[in-house]
Amino acid sequence: MTLATQEEIHTHPVPERLLSSSCPTPHVSSLDTYRQMWKESVEDPDKFFGDRARELLTWSKPFQTVRHGSLEEGDVAWFLEGEINACYNAVDRHALKNPNKVAIIHEGDEPDNVRKITYGELLRDVSRMANVLKNLGVRKGDNIVVYMPMIPETLVALLACARVGAVHSVVFAGFSAESLRDRVVDSSARIILTSDEGRRGGKNIATKRIVDDALRDHQTHVEHVVVYQRTGSPVPWVEDRDVWWHEETAKVRAFCPPEPMNSEDPLFLLYTSGSTGSPKGIQHSTGGYMLGAMMTLKYIFDYHENDVYACMADVGWITGHTYLTYGPLLNGATTVVFESTPTYPNPSRFWDLIQKHKITQFYTAPTAIRALRRLGDQWLEGYDLSSLRVLGSVGEPIGSDAWDWYNEKVGKGQCAVVDTYWQTETGSIIVSPLPGATPTKPGSATLPFFGIKPVILDPTTGKELNQVDETGVLAISQPWPSMARTVYNNHHRFLETYLKPYPGYYFTGDGAALDKDGYIWIRGRVDDVINVSGHRLSTAEIESALVHHEAVAEAAVIGGHDDLTGQCIHAFVSLKPHIDTNDGLEKELTLQVRKIIGPFASPKRIYVVQDHPKTRSGKIMRRILRKIVNGEHDQLGDVSTLADPSVVVVLIEKVHGPQ
Ligand code: WTA
Repeated sequence: MTLATQEEIHTHPVPERLLSSSCPTPHVSSLDTYRQMWKESVEDPDKFFGDRARELLTWSKPFQTVRHGSLEEGDVAWFLEGEINACYNAVDRHALKNPNKVAIIHEGDEPDNVRKITYGELLRDVSRMANVLKNLGVRKGDNIVVYMPMIPETLVALLACARVGAVHSVVFAGFSAESLRDRVVDSSARIILTSDEGRRGGKNIATKRIVDDALRDHQTHVEHVVVYQRTGSPVPWVEDRDVWWHEETAKVRAFCPPEPMNSEDPLFLLYTSGSTGSPKGIQHSTGGYMLGAMMTLKYIFDYHENDVYACMADVGWITGHTYLTYGPLLNGATTVVFESTPTYPNPSRFWDLIQKHKITQFYTAPTAIRALRRLGDQWLEGYDLSSLRVLGSVGEPIGSDAWDWYNEKVGKGQCAVVDTYWQTETGSIIVSPLPGATPTKPGSATLPFFGIKPVILDPTTGKELNQVDETGVLAISQPWPSMARTVYNNHHRFLETYLKPYPGYYFTGDGAALDKDGYIWIRGRVDDVINVSGHRLSTAEIESALVHHEAVAEAAVIGGHDDLTGQCIHAFVSLKPHIDTNDGLEKELTLQVRKIIGPFASPKRIYVVQDHPKTRSGKIMRRILRKIVNGEHDQLGDVSTLADPSVVVVLIEKVHGPQ
């Protein structure tokens, strides 16, 4: 595949304003400096990252060895002998120096509901919660599930876990009770932190009730559920198990010493979808992860002391961990926690937020940009967005239309647009422009971050492709500090998924190509992962939810193109014998998926079919379904090897009507 549109794509130089005296001097202010630093970082990572780990992080015991292990062996470790506490680095060291600096601005669901928390207050809040956890018997290394909405207390929860050396496992509060239960069971958590309800877009979300449903009638290790009172609505209560956050924190001291952790002790688990059915608990380290979070925030968002930084991601996803919580707080920044949606109470909400808090860096997802663009430019009129310097995008490819709109309408051509590519497993951004250094090309995440050595591999031979514009799979050929260390309780799966497919490389699962300038163009997943509005879902997971329905014999799920959400879910189901299609079935199946996974996994279309396109050995050819859905059925190739080639015509008619 060639990048045909590339010639038409305009290269944008670094906006002059960023290099002028009206803005702080960028940390990296020329492409040559970037190239020089990148070269050092990959040629002598021990020196490059050793120096930065000493300079940026505060260690309670210094490390002797910067780096150990290899991608071949799957035993990568960084800053080996070092002892460090993530919460101390994110909170205490700023609170001790600058207690009145605002750490968190909470912009509540209603725009006039704003709360500011200083570093001094944050240290007390986190300490109290840490003491509560200790009183509940939490010890170093315990896993704690966090199922909470977008409120500052969610950050407090994460930091309190880190303070006592517990491993947080955040579950996005849009996941259903069943998905939550799977994650609670897999991590053997004894404690869940939640809230009575959440608020979003003027509606209440029943977080506590979902926790109750997840635990009802099931064997788990959960001993306590700590409930933060967000809305005050009455909630069901299980005596001896449930405790109120405000009651427990009122009983304890507002200081708790941080637990010294080894650099390689786990900081958190975050479950994510892969090719096979069950989600995997991606486990991150303490020292390496922190360095990745802190450095990428500093360089990629060009963070400076007086900035007000805002990331719109939910804490339930990796972006909410690295760029809402750890990255900004490790840098001592003011971070905005946004509880609402881009369109509540109207589609000016983001612009109102930026104007009100004089936001300097704004980070969101292409799906939000596309939705706002579609609603019209009038929603931006009259807003002063001149505080902005850096506009970030994450989670899925941002097409050049959305990129241009973001750049021109939001950034007024005066901001750096950083299209940041990374994954739950990479811990922090691995490909992105640097605001003061990298000329940008809309649609390309541009160049690798420090320490990242990307290669494009031939998917079948595993050989490095050096041809310009040749699409292959994206892999990384050297370990970097914030890479995931393992899959919780399943190191075998970690090796099989990321390190074994191409020995000696970390395999991303994404297709990509390099252009003549060495810019990276991400082409999307090459495995069975679907990306809907930046939410990562596995086809196998959705299929398994569908076949749970008593009427369904077999299900095949594929990703279709969608102008708004990037991809959307199309499901093809065949029914068991003697089951009649009834009008309500599609709705029932949608509900089934919502119940088992969560509302964000709802299929856009469900087709009830007699049969799937199958090979003679009975394997469903999802590739054919994908082409049919995406209007490429004139390029199906040879279908004569299918068990029943006539199925294809029937399916085309089903999806596109009589031909
Ligand atoms: C996709 C989100 C293109 C990619 C941080 C990756 C992107 C998956 C980009 C990881 C981007 C993320 N351009 N594609 N800038 N950023 N992706 O784990 O397919 O939720 O593998 O991490 O999102 O999703 P995850």
